[in-house]
Amino acid sequence: MIMKETHYWPATESEAGLNEAAAALAAGGVIAFPTETVYGLGGDARSSAAVQSIFKAKGRPSDNPLIVHLAGPEALGVLVERVNEIERTLIANFWPGPLTLVLPVRPGAVSPLVTAGLDTVAVRVPAHDMARRLIAMSGCPVAAPSANLSGRPSPTEAHHVMEDLDGRIDGVLDGGPTGVGLESTVVRVLDGSVHILRPGGVTLEQLQQALGPNVPITEQHTISTDAVGQAETPRSPGVKYTHYAPRGDMLLVTGGNSERLISAAQHAAEEARRQGRRVGVLTPAEHADRYRNITHDIIVCGSIHAPETAAHALYAALRECDERGLDYIVAEGYPETGIGAALMNRLRKAAGGHELTV
Ligand code: TXA
Ligand code: MG
Repeated sequence: MIMKETHYWPATESEAGLNEAAAALAAGGVIAFPTETVYGLGGDARSSAAVQSIFKAKGRPSDNPLIVHLAGPEALGVLVERVNEIERTLIANFWPGPLTLVLPVRPGAVSPLVTAGLDTVAVRVPAHDMARRLIAMSGCPVAAPSANLSGRPSPTEAHHVMEDLDGRIDGVLDGGPTGVGLESTVVRVLDGSVHILRPGGVTLEQLQQALGPNVPITEQHTISTDAVGQAETPRSPGVKYTHYAPRGDMLLVTGGNSERLISAAQHAAEEARRQGRRVGVLTPAEHADRYRNITHDIIVCGSIHAPETAAHALYAALRECDERGLDYIVAEGYPETGIGAALMNRLRKAAGGHELTV
């Protein structure tokens, strides 16, 4: 691919950066920007050339559609055909914020490359001032996947974007580290039920709280691939791709009893070390000392008592596994309530299904 000059706007020059980045977006450029979840790689959703540049820069398969980002819900009417009552409730409760709604697209409103030819479009309003100002100033609906090379962990800091995409995109707006650290929750409302297509920053418990007991919520991402593909089964095309995989093999160790979990993780790490592999352990801070006599490569990922700190730290931790050249990683599981559900979804993907439950 032809290399580009990638402009980096530091957080200290955010006003000038916003002006220049918005102008670049309006002119069909592709710009990475911070959101409250992860950094996005944005382009004008109406321009097939801009959207094509996004897919190309990431090396992303073209059948995986993109999320369109808006500065506020007012702009929704131009993009989608209708919004039902449940969707309205979700918008009122969670926008701006890490919730993406899959809605019936208005024909011609965005490039068909954004929706990968589907009759729906995924939309969200990010809870990040810089993101919303950039979108408003550009005057575009902004199509933006996470700003990583396809298959790499999503970027939670501007330098992660530069590591993956320097020379492949027009610019990066640095807004410091992102807050949530995991992507938005993607939902589709069908026949009075809410289907979670991808768990993320808005939790199941928050959705239940907002919708009350009369709206069923299903977790679509947990069903097997045999069950999908049936008529009316909503799907997120991205779900079929392996994501976030570190270069080394990863084993995820799970279980409710932390002493048993730690002891199984210690055994797995020792065994791999005996086989001559460079072993690392990804662990909550509270358990880090338990592995010090097995390996120097201990990667601390948040606190076992505060899953939001682990969510915030996860993608940087997975990148660190690669930087250290680890070829075997033993990762401890976390409790699956609240944001822990999205955290464990990403850890399971990183482990490519290698899970030991004790
Ligand atoms: O937090 C986020 O959502 C970040 C930031 C940048 O906003 N974006 C992000 O985008 O994670 P991406 O492209 O990495 O993930 C988009 C997800 C994919 O799983 C994709 O399959 C799904 O949304 N998606 C997009 N359009 C869809 C549609 N029309 N129907 C079902 N799923 C859709
Ligand atoms: Mg992504």
